[in-house]
This record gives sequence, structure tokens and C-alpha cells, in this order.
Amino acid sequence: MSLSLSSVTAVAFLALAMISPSAAHFLLNYPPTIGFDDSLESTPPCGSFTVMFSTDNVTDFHVTGNAIAVTSIHPQATWLFRATLDLNATTNWTSLLPAIQQTGLGDYCEPEVTVPSSWAGQKGVIGVVQDSPDGILFQCAAVNFVVGNQAPPDICKNATGLSATYTADMALSTLPATPAATASGSGTSTAVSSTKSEAFSLKTAYPYSLVSSVVWAGTVVFFLA
Ligand SMILES: *[C@@H]1O[C@H](CO)[C@@H](O)[C@H](O)[C@H]1NC(C)=O
Ligand SMILES: *[C@@H]1O[C@H](CO)[C@@H](O)[C@H](O)[C@H]1NC(C)=O
Ligand SMILES: *[C@@H]1O[C@H](CO)[C@@H](O)[C@H](O)[C@H]1NC(C)=O
Ligand SMILES: *[C@@H]1O[C@H](CO)[C@@H](O)[C@H](O)[C@H]1NC(C)=O
Repeated sequence: MSLSLSSVTAVAFLALAMISPSAAHFLLNYPPTIGFDDSLESTPPCGSFTVMFSTDNVTDFHVTGNAIAVTSIHPQATWLFRATLDLNATTNWTSLLPAIQQTGLGDYCEPEVTVPSSWAGQKGVIGVVQDSPDGILFQCAAVNFVVGNQAPPDICKNATGLSATYTADMALSTLPATPAATASGSGTSTAVSSTKSEAFSLKTAYPYSLVSSVVWAGTVVFFLA
């Protein structure tokens, strides 16, 4: 091998640069998302989108059982499914299930997620949060809570070989109740800086994402070499 240390380092940085930012994150397939932007999915509480019932695709969410369907691009990640009656999606989140660790790539669906029955007749927001090797990622759906339960739609399916189990996830259980001061509307800079400091503290609390990126990059360097 004639590679110098600096060229190995350069390749490692190149591999990191290629893998980390370009990795697709996750999709919320059902209920339909209010918006998906791969590069901004780490912006809480809704992956950079603002809930707007007048223009969003608002679907019924059945309080005694409704599907939440996602597609994971990460072979292993931990999920939080949550909901709020706060139409700005900034406060008052209720966890609908314990944190769930998914292993295996692709479609994943929980067919019978429930919310408090007293919510029927009100509007609200379903939030899906993924603790992934790329960090904490967010998607939201705007819903009308309705009585009854739903026959899961066709899009509700699990990829072959995918498994999911309840787990404990410190990053998800300590998500701030009020993620960012986005509701004040008085300045983009305020919202951006609080988002940044939150992202920083989450990363500090959960350094494994950096470690797994480095291991991943090391694997690529090994194959390139
Ligand atoms: C709203 O979501 C439903 C269910 O995913 C989908 O079938 C429909 O095409 C969506 N409508 C719009 C306007 O996006
Ligand atoms: C917070 O949620 C509770 C139910 O869990 C509801 O009674 C209350 O109105 C909600 N508050 C806001 C501001 O959405
Ligand atoms: C929600 O957003 C609207 C408009 O952006 C604002 O008028 C309202 O005060 C916000 N409510 C909360 C509870 O932040
Ligand atoms: C997908 O797998 C999870 C975990 O085993 C399970 O709870 C869920 O019911 C499965 N979904 C479908 C649509 O079979």
C-alpha cells in the first residue's frame, strides 16, 4: 500500500462527506406527511414544515386504532410516535407507544396506534421522531381525531425481515416539550439559533451517531483501499 496517512485521512473525510449528509432519512407514508425535505428533516418539531390545516392533507385518525406507516432508510433506528392537540405542534406532546427499536430496512407500520378517546372530535398533529445514525429526525401529519378504529390501508406493511421491539431511548425520552421558539414568528434568526443549540445538546447527549458514522466511513475506506 502506497497510501500516505494524509491521503487515507482525506479519503476518510471524503467518505464521511459523501455518506453523512446524502443519506436519505425516513418517510412518513401514513397518515400523509405535511411535508418532507431530506436535508431539513432534523429540524423540530416537523422536519422544517409548519402545520397549516387550511392547506395540509388532513386525514382522519381513529382514536381506538389507526395505522402509522413509515419507510426507514436506516437498517437500525429507534422511533417515537407521539401526538398533540396543539395545532402549532410546539407543545403538549403525548407519547403513543414506548420507544421502538426497528431492525431491518424499508417499510414499517404499526397498524393499531391509539390516542386518548377524549380527543375524538378535535384536530391535532401526529408526530413521528426517529433517533437515527444521522441524528434526531422529524415528520408530522395533520389529522382529525375521530371515533372508532381503522382497517389499516394497503400502505401499512412491514418489509420482509424487519423486526421491532420496545426499547429505552434517552434521546427520545428527553426531547424538549417545546422544541424551538418558532411560534413567536418575530424572527427567523431566533428560531434558527434555538434549533441549533438543541441539535447540539442532543448530539452531545448521544455521541453514538458520530461513532457509527466513523465506523461506516472506515468500512468504505477499507473497501477502497
Ligand atoms: C392525501 O393523502 C392521501 C392518503 O395518503 C392520498 O391518497 C391523497 O392523494 C393525498 N391528497 C393530496 C392532495 O395530496
Ligand atoms: C394539551 O392536551 C390536553 C389533553 O392531553 C388537552 O386537554 C389540552 O387542551 C391541550 N392543551 C393545548 C394547549 O393544546
Ligand atoms: C400558533 O400559531 C398561530 C399563528 O402562527 C399563533 O397566532 C398562535 O398564537 C400560536 N399558538 C400557540 C399556542 O403558540
Ligand atoms: C410490523 O411489525 C411490528 C413489530 O413486530 C408489529 O407490531 C406490526 O403489527 C407489524 N405490522 C404489520 C402491518 O404487520
